[in-house]
Amino acid sequence: MTLHSSLSKQLPSDLDVQRLPKHVAVIMDGNGRWAKQRGLPRILGHRRGVDTLKSLLRCCKDWGVQALTAYAFSTENWGRPHDEVEFLMTLFERVLRRELKEMVDEGVQIHFVGDLEALPLTLQTEIQRAMAATQENQTIKFIVATNYGGRREIIQACRDIATQVLHQNITLDDIDESLFERHLYTAGILDPDLLIRTSGEMRVSNFLLWQMAYAELYVTETLWPDFDQHEFHQALRNFQTRTRRFGKVS
Ligand code: IPE
Ligand code: IPE
Ligand code: MG
Repeated sequence: MTLHSSLSKQLPSDLDVQRLPKHVAVIMDGNGRWAKQRGLPRILGHRRGVDTLKSLLRCCKDWGVQALTAYAFSTENWGRPHDEVEFLMTLFERVLRRELKEMVDEGVQIHFVGDLEALPLTLQTEIQRAMAATQENQTIKFIVATNYGGRREIIQACRDIATQVLHQNITLDDIDESLFERHLYTAGILDPDLLIRTSGEMRVSNFLLWQMAYAELYVTETLWPDFDQHEFHQALRNFQTRTRRFGKVS
């Protein structure tokens, strides 16, 4: 049996389509450990991680999840060895170039969130090309957080809003949660319902700090390159056992 024929395009029957998360976010962690366990260089873990992400995106699309956000590179990840950072930037660019046609054909609308201006220019070009080519697509939103930091995002929103006040475009009374959200990188995108982190770390590592206010958290020991459709199914089953109270009583 090939890998593909063993994957299900149908939502598993034990999942309730009415109670699927609309938006799933993933902290794709553990690529380095996956490689190390096999005596391989860390970069091979990143390369394998791309395949995992591609499969997850397809699965989300097939099962009816409306948006997937993936944490690809944090504002703190620049502190890694130069060779690893350079490999990742080149990998993002190569993957974008390679996968764009398929994303266009499959109805994926791709967004990038983060401080994109600090990325290599050639990568910025691919990012702009991919966003422009897929902006009319409707099947699924795929949001890639690249050079993303939740704190940086919030500071940037504060600066934007302060500038608006200074220019007297808005008054202090206009500042509320809905206005603030419109100044985040994620403006117009629903908050995630489910955050999955692989490789066992129980932290958010500066990811979507504002947007995560009421996300359900799911942490698995599985390393990102091993996070397959079966693992995602488990995460969704677990999500469907949760009672989301949003501060009220159920
Ligand atoms: C996540 O895997 C990928 C990125 C942060 C780019 P890691 O590279 O953090 O893998 P570990 O945590 O070292 O195993
Ligand atoms: C979070 O993973 C960032 C990404 C997955 C891109 P890290 O491996 O950078 O997080 P820490 O250092 O364990 O908190
Ligand atoms: Mg890590």
